[in-house]
Amino acid sequence: MKARTFPEQFFTSNEGGDDDRINVTRPFLPPLEEFIPYLEDIWKRGKLTNKGPFHDAFEKALCDYLGINYISLFANGTLALVTALQALRITGEVITTPFSFVASTHSLHWNGIRPIFCDIESDTLTLDCERIEAAITPQTTAILPVHVYGNPCKVDVIEEIAGIYGLKIIYDAAHAFSVKLNGSSILNYGDLSVLSFHATKVFNTFEGGAIICHDKTMKRRIDYLKNFGFAGEVTVVGPGINGKMNEIQAAFGMLQLKYIDEVIKKRRLIVLQYREKLSGIKGLSFLNDQKMVKHNYAYFPILINEPEYGRSRDDVYEELRRNNIYARRYFYPLISQFPTYRGLASSLADNLPVAEKITERVICLPIYPDLRDHEIEKVISFLS
Ligand SMILES: Cc1ncc(COP(=O)(O)O)c(C=O)c1O
Repeated sequence: MKARTFPEQFFTSNEGGDDDRINVTRPFLPPLEEFIPYLEDIWKRGKLTNKGPFHDAFEKALCDYLGINYISLFANGTLALVTALQALRITGEVITTPFSFVASTHSLHWNGIRPIFCDIESDTLTLDCERIEAAITPQTTAILPVHVYGNPCKVDVIEEIAGIYGLKIIYDAAHAFSVKLNGSSILNYGDLSVLSFHATKVFNTFEGGAIICHDKTMKRRIDYLKNFGFAGEVTVVGPGINGKMNEIQAAFGMLQLKYIDEVIKKRRLIVLQYREKLSGIKGLSFLNDQKMVKHNYAYFPILINEPEYGRSRDDVYEELRRNNIYARRYFYPLISQFPTYRGLASSLADNLPVAEKITERVICLPIYPDLRDHEIEKVISFLS
């Protein structure tokens, strides 16, 4: 059969084969021929979604790989976040970080919940636990921290505060696939954790996501909610949504699991190279590994202090772009600076001094398993 070709304009510039372009990330894809038998299986069965065999096998394989008890797969991480808040019946106000991808806060908005932004720590860039208590009001029902860049939040302190005030904890763990703390999955903390398997993540199923929970009943509740609330053919137990992961995504996830350890190993080597070559440069700093943490090296953010470095973060960003290096300013602007949220009292710059400073300094350098040594050298050459 003749291979089918698509017109050039079918692809975005990102996918059209600009060989010299270095993006901040590039999704890991297993060899195509290894995926064909999975597709043949799906075609043979004709079961495309609604809890198919690949879906169930992938849930089990993820529990084994991640060291967790219960997981519910979703079509993407945003639907998983929205559903996690529904599952715990969260209302009123939720304390969260402005230093994240917008979906963290949008999930609150879609549930009619008021986000209360709390500042971040300058070492991990996660929620500053010292400032959580001051943000609690009678309307507060939960905390939604983010393991940003895969860096674990101070989970013990957050748990203690939540326990004292009777709050729930939902971790946005979109960046934290495979991350461990003290030998245990970071996903075992909090009431619920949410993963994203988006193409830009360490582990991808094109699009995808999941909620991690700790008991069978909650898993059942989440499974109902992601399937319109159906608890049987004619019983609907809640206002559910269509959040289901389909069989192609799940099959792809099964195959991706074979490669994930190798992917993280390669990412780590790139981080070590960056750290070695970029250390000691005045005005340029980066995050180091945390004690007792197994990192996944999802991102490589650097911080640029303009007076010391001699150039602003935006100058660096523009120069890299002129040279075909598409580093990204994650996370700039802060979520609290977007029009939807900037009117909130907790969005005031005075309330978020660390986040306001970091968002002006941060830039994430390219990192993905196939990034070649000469490309890493090229990135470094514009920074040192
Ligand atoms: C921190 C964070 N939360 C939530 C999401 C949303 O996940 P998804 O794109 O799978 O909907 C993302 C990324 O996409 C993210 O980076």
